[in-house]
Amino acid sequence: MTAIRSSTAAPTTLSPAQILGEPLTFRRGGFTVKNRLLKSAMSEVLGSPAHAPTVAHERLYEAWARGGLGLAITGNVMVDRRALGEPGNVVVEDERDLAALTRWASAGKQGGCRVWMQINHPGKQSPTFLSREPVAPSAVPLGAGLESAFATPRALEPHEIEALVERFATTAAIARKAGFDGVQIHGAHGYLVSQFLSPHHNRRDDAWGGTLEKRARFAREVLAAMRRAVGEGFPIGIKINSADFQRGGFGEDESLEVIRMLVDGGIDLIEISGGTYEAPAMTGAEVRESTRQREAYFLAFAERVRAAVDVPLALTGGFRTAEGMASAVSSGAVDLVGLARALALEPDLPRRVLSGEAFVSRVRPLSTGVRKVDQLTALDVSWYEHQLARLGAGKPTDPGLGPWRSVVMSIAKLGVAAVRMRRARG
Ligand SMILES: Cc1cc2nc3c(=O)[nH]c(=O)nc-3n(C[C@H](O)[C@H](O)[C@H](O)COP(=O)(O)O)c2cc1C
Repeated sequence: MTAIRSSTAAPTTLSPAQILGEPLTFRRGGFTVKNRLLKSAMSEVLGSPAHAPTVAHERLYEAWARGGLGLAITGNVMVDRRALGEPGNVVVEDERDLAALTRWASAGKQGGCRVWMQINHPGKQSPTFLSREPVAPSAVPLGAGLESAFATPRALEPHEIEALVERFATTAAIARKAGFDGVQIHGAHGYLVSQFLSPHHNRRDDAWGGTLEKRARFAREVLAAMRRAVGEGFPIGIKINSADFQRGGFGEDESLEVIRMLVDGGIDLIEISGGTYEAPAMTGAEVRESTRQREAYFLAFAERVRAAVDVPLALTGGFRTAEGMASAVSSGAVDLVGLARALALEPDLPRRVLSGEAFVSRVRPLSTGVRKVDQLTALDVSWYEHQLARLGAGKPTDPGLGPWRSVVMSIAKLGVAAVRMRRARG
């Protein structure tokens, strides 16, 4: 299965609006995205106390659909309510919230925008106030100063791994039933699938660890189980790291091999990212200046993937200008441009880019001036969560939101959530 690429032949004669405005058709299933702009997953943390989607999700995705977006991938939806990445995650493990999920999908599909659900399990990246004993491939704790906020995980038993594979499939089937246009496995950023891939985090010597083939088994089994659950013709993608940027971790050569395996397994879209909580390259933190100058952080790896496999490809991380987005597509490196923070700040970005504006995003590095505070409150993520919350409340974004004010807002929100979690357990 291949994407039809036609703009790549004459890059110099076409404007960014023309290049990015060209629809993309996947051969398998004849599935079409109306332009080349993809909203990459951003955890909305707008779920109800019972982890159902809310009217805020509907308003937020409607704002992106109205902004002219081609494909929206939801923030990570969790497969198990005992394993959360953050308070406010949506969880889908059965059909109890089917009506709310259906409203969410339908709000996001206005104007022909496609909506895929990103499906995830956090593994050990579940903070202690949410999981006192998270699960992971092996009992390897997180490092990089995260030890105090994340407990050492317990190694999963083989029968638990099989049950988790089935959970991913169940969530995918419910997404389809609710009207989502596709699903994406979250295989990046150090969550469970990514932990299985990593030789640092996966020290197993059974069928689920050891060689690359065995470390990749979890991702492959999830894909196969999802395919059985949703049938042919319903797209399944994966977001995967180019590398974990960690000594002894998952690297580019291995990632390329895993991508080949997934293509053999019938994956419909590969989205490239990088990094983990321990080395957050996904938001540019670990990226070299020479890489940053190319605008998209993982473009060089995307070019390697493009040369190796024939599958629709998206790239996320660092895109800030209409020129940069168009050149990644016109060079033939990728089919879809993945955008996160720029769309959290300016939901009408697609319409502006596609109408010919020489768009430059207002996304900037954020800091309170106190590094530890920035880190502890994950300022470069939480500041954007506040923007998503505003859109979810039907308000415009607030580009002038001060970093300290954002920190105070995050602490207030987390405080409430932490208390709520303790009550739920007690
Ligand atoms: C508020 C926020 C939430 C995020 N949540 C997710 C998520 O749920 N799943 C995911 O794959 N990536 C998540 N990311 C990472 C983004 O999808 C993206 O990879 C990263 O922000 C780099 O792209 P950008 O430079 O366009 O922002 C999140 C990023 C932000 C800012």
